[in-house]
Amino acid sequence: MDYDGITNYIGGCWQPARAGKTFTSLNPSRQSDVIGRFSYSEREDITLAVAAAADAYPEWRRMPMPRRADVLTRMGHILEERKEELARFMVREMGKVLLEARGDVQEAIDMAFYMAAFGRMPNGRVVPSERPNVFCQAWRVPIGVVGVITPWNFPIAIPSWKIFPALLAGNTIVFKPAEDTPALATVFTEMLEEAGVPPGVINLVTGDGPSAGSALVEAEGVSAISFTGSTEVGRQIAARCGALMKRVSCELGGKNAIVVLDDANLDLALKGVLWSAFGTAGQRCTAASRIIVQESVMAEYRDRLVAHTTALRIGDGLDERNEIGPVVNRKQLDRIHEYVQIGKEEGAEVLAGGTPLINGSLREGCYYAPTIFGNVSPTMRIAQEEIFGPVTALISAENIQDAIEIANGTAFGLSLSIYTSNIYKAFQAMQELESGLVYVNLPTSGAEIQLPFGGIKQTGNGHREAGWMAMDYCTEWKSVYVNYSDSNELVRAQIDTQ
Ligand code: UN1
Repeated sequence: MDYDGITNYIGGCWQPARAGKTFTSLNPSRQSDVIGRFSYSEREDITLAVAAAADAYPEWRRMPMPRRADVLTRMGHILEERKEELARFMVREMGKVLLEARGDVQEAIDMAFYMAAFGRMPNGRVVPSERPNVFCQAWRVPIGVVGVITPWNFPIAIPSWKIFPALLAGNTIVFKPAEDTPALATVFTEMLEEAGVPPGVINLVTGDGPSAGSALVEAEGVSAISFTGSTEVGRQIAARCGALMKRVSCELGGKNAIVVLDDANLDLALKGVLWSAFGTAGQRCTAASRIIVQESVMAEYRDRLVAHTTALRIGDGLDERNEIGPVVNRKQLDRIHEYVQIGKEEGAEVLAGGTPLINGSLREGCYYAPTIFGNVSPTMRIAQEEIFGPVTALISAENIQDAIEIANGTAFGLSLSIYTSNIYKAFQAMQELESGLVYVNLPTSGAEIQLPFGGIKQTGNGHREAGWMAMDYCTEWKSVYVNYSDSNELVRAQIDTQ
């Protein structure tokens, strides 16, 4: 497909935005490489998409669940067939290195087959009644039209976490992907079309948050919103949804930490930290931006970490020798650099990196040197605020209690990890770490789709994605009571049953 501004998919038709406006998407490794032009959607487009989704809802909802699951199975196969092509395209549109881009697509493949299997799983419960001859059951029902607003950092995986469960449950969807990855969202939607999702069941509206995103949140006829992005935007969306009485599921920021105790396997902890801090150029909500090291091993650990960090290969992710790609755009590059200045002003010491990379061909892209701060105290802004780039902070801790307290001491609670060979300490950490994801001797990134994914505190609002509760965010429970007695007697619950 040419990306010529006709990238809205509404009611089964590809079309431009009503007002004819477009925006572009650029390759972060080479800003002169324009991926294409995309429909810049506004309120009118959202209204049309929501109407199409509402029209398609009754029929899709009534389709037997195993038939809806068949569509996801086909989607899984299509993703498998086109995995390599899609992964390469992902490197071009958002910059993560090829190995990771393949992983992103793999998460979607796993999610498709996992959710498809739920199509033939029990979908409710039969519950005893306190009345004779009354049959009670409760089952899951769809919620209606779901608005899905996704980020650019997992441009295929995250839409799949939200869209596949919603489709399986019988909802119809209006999908507003991040403005940095509209082409990948377009391909993903084409694949859903090919897999047999009927017209109107999935609708794509490309555009930005202030225009398309907020119109989707406001739209009458949208029953639920699922959003992954910053805490700042999530807070606004949740407040609006609260006022409008809409269901809202938010997956927001993180300030994840890895604790390294003195009894840890330091080689393993080193690999885990490099992956968590600098994988996807630190642009994961699970990235470790704080490394809390027990004092007694700090000097040794710091030196080894710095040596490995400065040896990382940086460049275009299509070259498989490169370990770190660019950050997503110039704005993000500037923001990261601002945080580095803030860290310096706060008195932290730059041990590695600390600058944008502008040598040779890197100048054409948005590259930032993997950065390590030493001498960081837990209350500094660089140890409290999400930076979303290849920047991490070394913090020293006296002992495990101190380390856990520091790890827990932020507004966020997504992913925390501990490296230790002591089983008592490992279990202590599992109990005491305050986050939705806890890892022992593993990096903070690497969540698997069959477990619930999400965070506590300001990372979220109590919902989880993936896992066996993936459909919770977009379903209601309906409790049904049936009297099958042939008597004339009214039997009242709680009154005649005592
Ligand atoms: C995200 O960064 O928003 O555990 C999701 C991980 C991935 C998912 C990250 N499986 O890092």
